[in-house]
Amino acid sequence: MRQTHLHKYLGGLVESHRSQPGEDLLSRLATDDGPDGRMTDEEIVTTATLILFAGHETTVNLISNGVLTLLRHPDVLQRLQSQPDLIIGVVEELLRYEPPVQIVPWRAAYSDVTIGDTVIPKGAQIMLMLASGNRDPDRFHEPDRFDPSRQDNQHLGFGGGIHLCFGGPMARLEVQIALTEFFRRLNNPQLITDPPPYRRSPILRGPLHLHVGQG
Ligand code: HEM
Repeated sequence: MRQTHLHKYLGGLVESHRSQPGEDLLSRLATDDGPDGRMTDEEIVTTATLILFAGHETTVNLISNGVLTLLRHPDVLQRLQSQPDLIIGVVEELLRYEPPVQIVPWRAAYSDVTIGDTVIPKGAQIMLMLASGNRDPDRFHEPDRFDPSRQDNQHLGFGGGIHLCFGGPMARLEVQIALTEFFRRLNNPQLITDPPPYRRSPILRGPLHLHVGQG
């Protein structure tokens, strides 16, 4: 493994969490013997790196996609201010309407899979178009409408099946709190530039930066 600064930093954290374990995930990974025996330091550092990246970029983008979407929907923002519980539906709807993870490109078929009239042959590479599924008119009524009161909002924002996002419950809570606090603290917020510049990535969707002023 190439020793990048991040790997060295995380390696140091693994050592310190092993010698003085707390109630956190890294301490558990560093001290748990598990059914297959203890993970090597390299495995723990790789897992910690995955969790860091999987959990950071995605959550950052959902927060900025949320600020952008709410400022584009002042009626929803107004309802949110008088009805704070709406934030739960707002975050679910953001995960459908502006999902940070647009595509999962790293899948392959284990066997021939038939969907409708199409056979995906064993071994074929598959890209899961999560964002497109989230706007499927056969699944969602008026899919292009941002509606936080949507019933039965089984979106694909956290993927699905056995790879369903491991950090979903925490991410939901983080974004609910971040958006609530952001809009509580600003007086008459307005977008300075719409649309904002976007990150250049086909997988992750979110603004490069988002300038917001107060009216
Ligand atoms: C809004 C924030 C987040 C979004 C939109 C998101 C989205 C996703 C998606 C779409 C997948 C499925 C990928 C696939 O099918 O291969 C996934 C998996 C995963 N996510 Fe998240 N995620 C978020 C936050 C987090 C956080 C906070 C963590 C960790 C603390 C995390 C850790 C993971 C991990 C480890 C997986 C792989 C699960 C597996 O393959 O079994 N995610 N996430």
